[in-house]
Amino acid sequence: MEPEVVDPAPVVEPTTDLRSLAPESPAVPVGPTAPVVTVRQMINSSLAVVDPSPAARADLIEQLGGEASSFESVAELTARLTGAAPVVALLGPSCADPVSFAGVAELVARYPMVGCILVTDQVTTALLQEALRAGVRDVVAVHAGPATLAEAVQRVSQAVEHAVPVAPATGAGAPSTDTPVPDGASEHTRGSVITVFSPKGGTGTTVLATSLAVALAERSSRPVCIVDADLQFGDVAVTLKLAPHHTVVDAVASIDRLDAAMLDSMLVTHERSGLRVLPAPLEPAYADQVGARDLVRIIGILREMCEYVVVDTPSHLDDVVLSVLDESDSIELVAGLDIPSVKNLKVTLQTLRLLDLPEERLHLVLNRADSKVKLDVSEVERALQFEAHAMIPSDVVVPQSVNRGEPVVTHAPRSGVAKAISALADLYAAPQPVRSRRRK
Ligand SMILES: Nc1ncnc2c1ncn2[C@@H]1O[C@H](COP(=O)(O)OP(=O)(O)OP(=O)(O)O)[C@@H](O)[C@H]1O
Ligand SMILES: [Mg+2]
Repeated sequence: MEPEVVDPAPVVEPTTDLRSLAPESPAVPVGPTAPVVTVRQMINSSLAVVDPSPAARADLIEQLGGEASSFESVAELTARLTGAAPVVALLGPSCADPVSFAGVAELVARYPMVGCILVTDQVTTALLQEALRAGVRDVVAVHAGPATLAEAVQRVSQAVEHAVPVAPATGAGAPSTDTPVPDGASEHTRGSVITVFSPKGGTGTTVLATSLAVALAERSSRPVCIVDADLQFGDVAVTLKLAPHHTVVDAVASIDRLDAAMLDSMLVTHERSGLRVLPAPLEPAYADQVGARDLVRIIGILREMCEYVVVDTPSHLDDVVLSVLDESDSIELVAGLDIPSVKNLKVTLQTLRLLDLPEERLHLVLNRADSKVKLDVSEVERALQFEAHAMIPSDVVVPQSVNRGEPVVTHAPRSGVAKAISALADLYAAPQPVRSRRRK
């Protein structure tokens, strides 16, 4: 039976289930494995299943708990939408082909509120790349099971719910070039970018960046994100005990079509704090795929979505790091109480001054500031001509928390380290912006 042809205007109202638009949808019996709460009940999007094979569609609908509309092709789905309400479309195994991918590219460019998930027999790197480039938001193995599928659907649904609906008057035609702004954000509330940098490895940059980001996430009503810009050996994800599905490399692979909703679907959440994380590449070899302009664009999109974007960096100044520093509202420069650390930071400060980075953005943090190493805090401040605005003591709870994959602010909230980092977060969360104090 031919699918019903529906007028373009009122096809999908925000609360309308796609089911009502697909008269040939099979009334799929809900099997014994069907969840008590269906996936559809957990999300605010409609669900669509696309595959030429009725058996494949029925299988997917059953995995979803029985509540989804079915379509034979991406083209058929596209023809039935207006883009006025969020829809998560599951593309079955037969949709892993160039025609369907071309259809997806057109569909998601036209309707930002539609998020596609490819459910495939085998997830290969090549297929993953092809699918992501077409605009598919996630790829799940068909045998992964209903729980994994439900997780992917929830993630994608949350992302497309925030996208900008297509207005009926302007909806048809050209792809939108706007960056959709998620809930709660507007161009007047751009988030702050706080970059943490040390020119000497092992100084505590990652410990400070992750714990500061978690502390800010706990204080903020809007999202907070951390970006791991240590592209070769980034360890933000491991420090927070996260197993990411996507990294910054995936965001760069889709850079031409990247918007807030797509980027949002690539972030992994630190459940305890709600912090969103964009992890570094999984292998150093992929670092080359991330250029300075890519990273600046990604940070630009994130600052529209978030109240704070914290960036962890490697311990060297290259064009990527310099571009990130240039993009930052605040730069937390971390030094230890040792001569090489102070010397490197002095050289860094000279470089940043040569680059005309506004001095008020720079802040000094002394880590392990109570170490009995015969180097005095005031001596260091005098050498650097900067007053430290945070001093973090040395404490065994830090390596303990790192090894547990828990930020020190939640692992040992009463420790001096956690208190110092929390006080720094309070400075950012205070109504007055953080100011640097140049030492005379
Ligand atoms: N205040 C502290 N007290 C005790 N140990 C600390 C403290 N800060 C950092 N450390 C320890 O120092 C080590 C290095 O910390 P971290 O990974 O944050 O440094 P980094 O500057 O990011 O290093 P890299 O250059 O490798 O990225 C970790 O093992 C951590 O546990
Ligand atoms: Mg680090």
